[in-house]
Amino acid sequence: DIPVKELANGVKIPQLGLGVYKVSSEQAYETVSNALKIGYRHIDTASYYQNEEEVGRAIRESGIPREELFVTTKVWNDEQGYDRTLRAFEQSKERLGLDYIDLYLIHWPVTDRFPETWRALEKLDTDGEVRAVGVSNFLKHHLKTLMETAIIKPVVNQIELHPKLVEKSTIAYCKEQGIEIESWSPLGRAKYLDDPVLVELASKHDKSPAQIMIRWHIQNDYIVIPKSTKKVRQQENLAVFDFSLDKKDLEKLNQMEAGERVGSHPDHITR
Ligand code: A2P
Repeated sequence: DIPVKELANGVKIPQLGLGVYKVSSEQAYETVSNALKIGYRHIDTASYYQNEEEVGRAIRESGIPREELFVTTKVWNDEQGYDRTLRAFEQSKERLGLDYIDLYLIHWPVTDRFPETWRALEKLDTDGEVRAVGVSNFLKHHLKTLMETAIIKPVVNQIELHPKLVEKSTIAYCKEQGIEIESWSPLGRAKYLDDPVLVELASKHDKSPAQIMIRWHIQNDYIVIPKSTKKVRQQENLAVFDFSLDKKDLEKLNQMEAGERVGSHPDHITR
């Protein structure tokens, strides 16, 4: 069974979910339907991914009670600002075909807009349109700026995180503030699966390098959302609760850190 974490506002979230970035609208219905069939209960999409309609249809047609599912979506950079965000939210909700969203995130810290965007998320939270609000790709300095005007604290910060990129000061600040960390591209987009450390630990535990990586996130207390459109890999990525890494294994994985990104730098975003 997938462990459940409690966010600072009391809302529960499955610690492992399915990410659907780069899942095309043609693939999204099948991909999400299959994931739900094999036990995923947490789906992470975004307005930017252009697959909300198919993701929503897969969720609605799954027959799984809505309250057993956790759905995240995000406001895109060019939708930021107070009124625009409220409109963008309505559009995401409409495309997903859901009565409420579990978690709504600011996708990237558009510096001159995110405080106003956050005010809109606070309204959505207060109005009960969403069960929780948070941010994505915020570094410590962005979070500090947000906190200057925020009334409601973000409950999560979703950042690029894998053994090759661990932003220690942002993670430490989030921990201090009770903000849960969610890892995007937790597998480093499959770029590092042949790393000798991963290969060695995979053989030691009779698991795959991808499973070693996911287990590293789980044991570090991160929420993790690996993406796969393939049935066998979705299954594989879920099968990480029957073994554990020991202290030495974790130390070896920690030594992989190299400041290597697979995505954009939060200080260099475009609109
Ligand atoms: P695919 O969707 O074809 O399975 P991340 O979540 O870090 O962004 O990584 C996603 C990438 O990793 C995708 O290219 C995905 O390909 C691939 N992937 C997902 N799960 C596995 C796995 N268990 N083994 C190998 N590659 C995987």
